Amino acid sequence: MMPPTLRRNLTRAELHALVTDLAARPEEWRHRVAHDPTARTYEQLNRDEHVAVWLICWMDDHDTGFHDHDVSCGALAVADGEVVEERLAVGGPPLRRRVRAGGVIDFAASDIHRIAHAGDHPAVTIHAYSPPLWRMGAYETLPSGELQRHSISYAEELRPLGGGSSLPGLALASDG
Ligand SMILES: [Fe+2]
Repeated sequence: MMPPTLRRNLTRAELHALVTDLAARPEEWRHRVAHDPTARTYEQLNRDEHVAVWLICWMDDHDTGFHDHDVSCGALAVADGEVVEERLAVGGPPLRRRVRAGGVIDFAASDIHRIAHAGDHPAVTIHAYSPPLWRMGAYETLPSGELQRHSISYAEELRPLGGGSSLPGLALASDG
């Protein structure tokens, strides 16, 4: 059973607690796990006026590319496997952290980050966004090095754009 709505938008701390709790209750979502080598798979577990909860399955080189969440803050819990998060930094390499099963990260609407699969095994993550995602920003690096933001619908799949993977320090080694 999904947590009851609070009839208001949730804070980062509340989203963090929500995904932590849900990731620890696989009986709620295990039957919806489906790994596809060609692309991440998404299952929306809950959506109301104030919060949307997603299950995302990752494997191989699946990678969101850099993006923001427009006006939504969010959190993700790694339920199985591992992912890597990078935060975009100007003038230096991205700030990078691996998140293994049991780990949770949260982010403000203004944060720009990228999530990629890591490790040898498929990963499962539980995400919550408040207010529910509607628009997102996807970032593209032009050959000149200029960064462009593209406004996209939450229904469009995030993926690395243009030279995004050639930004300094973006090699997503599986041992980092
Ligand atoms: Fe994100």
